[in-house]
Amino acid sequence: MKKEYKPVHGMWTSRWVFILAATGSAVGLGNIWRFPYITGEYGGGAFVVLYLLCIALMGIPIMVAEVMLGRRGGLSPIHTMSKLAEQSKVTRRWAGIGYLGALSGFLILSFYSAVASWALIYVWEAAQGVFQGITAVQSKAHYEDMLASPWLLLGAHTLFMAITMGVVALGVKQGLERAVRVLMPVLFALLVVLIGYASTTPGFAEGVGFLFAFDFSKLSGEAVIVALGQAFFTLSLGMGAIMAYGAYMPREIKDKSGRSRPVSIVSCVVTIAVLDTLVALGAGLAMFPLLFTGGLEVGQGPGMMFVTLPLAFGQMPGGLLFGTLFFVLVVCAAWSSSISLGEPMAAWLVERGLRRGPAALVVGLAAWLLGVGSVLSFNVWKEHEFLVGTFFDNIEFLSTSVMLPLGGLLIAIFAGWVMKETHARKELAMKSFPLYLIWRALVRVVSPAAVVALFVYSLWSVLAADDAAAEAGADGDPVEQTAPVEQEAR
Ligand code: TRP
Repeated sequence: MKKEYKPVHGMWTSRWVFILAATGSAVGLGNIWRFPYITGEYGGGAFVVLYLLCIALMGIPIMVAEVMLGRRGGLSPIHTMSKLAEQSKVTRRWAGIGYLGALSGFLILSFYSAVASWALIYVWEAAQGVFQGITAVQSKAHYEDMLASPWLLLGAHTLFMAITMGVVALGVKQGLERAVRVLMPVLFALLVVLIGYASTTPGFAEGVGFLFAFDFSKLSGEAVIVALGQAFFTLSLGMGAIMAYGAYMPREIKDKSGRSRPVSIVSCVVTIAVLDTLVALGAGLAMFPLLFTGGLEVGQGPGMMFVTLPLAFGQMPGGLLFGTLFFVLVVCAAWSSSISLGEPMAAWLVERGLRRGPAALVVGLAAWLLGVGSVLSFNVWKEHEFLVGTFFDNIEFLSTSVMLPLGGLLIAIFAGWVMKETHARKELAMKSFPLYLIWRALVRVVSPAAVVALFVYSLWSVLAADDAAAEAGADGDPVEQTAPVEQEAR
């Protein structure tokens, strides 16, 4: 028997709240932790150009598709997809996109919380002056000691999951909306302060040069794939997070004079993508100058934020205050992202009749439990490797390199090929027809092709030679980085 589900979650108060919430989802560890270190690894400016191309040609079209599907369905991704499939008279199995997404969100949430909680620990430590005057060797040892302390990590993981699901439990208006209204302005203000601080250091010009000098000779095929994957992850695409947020987006909003105005999906999405990109570049601007000032290595991988950066802060005047603020920024960014990872599944449970509180509790407890596996991957289970690496490596790889691209591909195919064109066109309500045609071409051909390339590469890197697999694993494995090279301070 078919059951009709009604939208029960409430709506964002304004267009800006939707933009803030989706930007909150997009801006996270991907921008502040991952973007700077992969840019460092792949040589700077040229990689940045590639990344921008991926955002424009694949990220934005898929994000438009997700928001469009979400707003048309008005429900959690699972129910939205089955409703839209029915409207387009195709099999309800397309709801699989929703199930796949909820599952990937759940897997990502589990390890995202484990990593974000390191930043939580670092806020506390930075404020206590732990990093003042620290040496490179000490900074690395300190990071490794933290990873070797299961109880400390478990405590932080528990706290982070509690604040995340606490917000989800409060609902769209009282929880999500209130949280992003506070977190996002704080995040932007902190970023501006930190960039200002970086601009007073002697390495600023070198840092800027590194980010924006386009040396195309450094580009490789692998860089293209990494840029593609990053564009996906940083915009929160492929799992229905943005679809769920789109479901709470009104079609019309009253302006000050009381007239209703349509809310344009495309202009919102472009704003979100621009803000997300600005934060990623801003994080680079705030970090690279400090590394250059300290004479530190920029291309040494995932440990950049947790090993090299504390070292840089420890050496400079004002490092105690600004170092603490930096990790507060990371926590704010990760918090608003993790909320969007838990929301689709919680919303689905709510539509099936649970109250918000218990729904958030169920999702949070389950993700917490799975996250314990990730926490233990850095200490007790460190030696237990299978498939692509530790438990953490496997969950990370499966969700971000396999399930997200697959979800994104299916979303693009559904929006571009399966759904009735009139439905998509009506929901998008784009004023410019040529622009609509461009979107349609991108979502039908270019984005799926890009995703397939990404997907084939991901799988190939596991199935191919051992060292290729190790490389893909090391990408997400912060313990496998080399020691920061301390060069002569200038
Ligand atoms: N975009 C976030 C970041 O850059 C992570 C994230 C949140 C995410 N929700 C997502 C990634 C959904 C993929 C899918 O850190």
